[in-house]
Amino acid sequence: MKLINHCLPLISILILNSCNIKKTEVSASLKNSYKDDFYMGTALSADQIEEKNAKEDSLICREFNAITAENIMKSMFVHPQKDKYDFTLSDKFVAFGEKNKMFIHGHTLIWHSQLAPWMEKIKDSTEMKAFMKDHITTIVSQYKGRINSWDVVNEALNEDGTLRKSVFLNTLGEDYLVDAFKLAAAADPKVDLYYNDYNLEDPAKREGVIRLVKKIKAAGGKIDGVGSQGHWQLDSPSLEEIEKSILAYSALGVKVAFTELDITVLPNPWDLKGADVNQNFEGNAKMNPYPEILPDSVQTKLAQRYADIFKLFLKHKDKISRVTFWGVHDGQSWLNDWPIKGRTNYPLLFDKELQPKKAYNSVMQLKEAKK
Ligand code: XIL
Repeated sequence: MKLINHCLPLISILILNSCNIKKTEVSASLKNSYKDDFYMGTALSADQIEEKNAKEDSLICREFNAITAENIMKSMFVHPQKDKYDFTLSDKFVAFGEKNKMFIHGHTLIWHSQLAPWMEKIKDSTEMKAFMKDHITTIVSQYKGRINSWDVVNEALNEDGTLRKSVFLNTLGEDYLVDAFKLAAAADPKVDLYYNDYNLEDPAKREGVIRLVKKIKAAGGKIDGVGSQGHWQLDSPSLEEIEKSILAYSALGVKVAFTELDITVLPNPWDLKGADVNQNFEGNAKMNPYPEILPDSVQTKLAQRYADIFKLFLKHKDKISRVTFWGVHDGQSWLNDWPIKGRTNYPLLFDKELQPKKAYNSVMQLKEAKK
């Protein structure tokens, strides 16, 4: 008896996992409840990667088993000058994922936004070809065998499914897409390669993705998945369109991931008939209706919307590889500053005090009901 008492603390120390949570204490969590379905991921800020807030990091470890860097792997941070890469934070990000045995997703190699200023200035095809080769090869090789999947190209399509004008399209023409996927596959043949974009539930854009995936495959490129960002609203896109996209992408023989899921509860400037999207809405109280607290009625709507979406995800779990939320908690969400700066939004499953919301419970209940 005495011996057992004496040994117990030691045993619990031995079973501490790398997230400093005793295994015996691990109870229901997103990652545990959905472990047989798909990865449950989150995007990490630089502070979270640097483990500056112990409470946030223990929540991340408790709930999620996949991570994406919200910003620090974008070209302006990782490749700020032509001859200079800065892997300081991305090395920490990958080490964080490895330490905590998480699925690690790389975001993103080729994107027209958050581009280092020197890249925007590239004018001719020879220089752009050399840039693409160096950029993709260097970054993918740096994490070869350690990163599980990459967003090779992000947001290359317009809303009508045509190719977006960008510095890449302007200098190289549409073959830049095929080249990007080939370069990534050459640098790490085993890593999963994704095309990632938003509004992928709109029929015209969906068709654009289908053309793109077929084109990459027909040209001998390797593409393993389509990432739908999932920056959604309370009433749109419809479940029907989400389902059509899941089916259409998986029919191409690629995985489907929801890579940046969040649901805004605030008025959308683009919905205001006749509104000039460029007009300044900052400080407009009508556009920021819940600065202190989210009314229970909206909280309930959000919970219902999340339940409906996850019910659909579960129906198609055989086609879905990962669902990642764009941030850990509401206080961190980019939707507090986009498309209008300085609002208070409530798009995620945890509030800014890190407490689970009704929406969290509704996502969890879908699994509990099945037990
Ligand atoms: C956003 C980040 O969340 C913000 O912090 C940053 O200021 C701008 O970019 N689509 C993407 C993401 O692929 O990289 C974007 O992330 C959100 C839209």
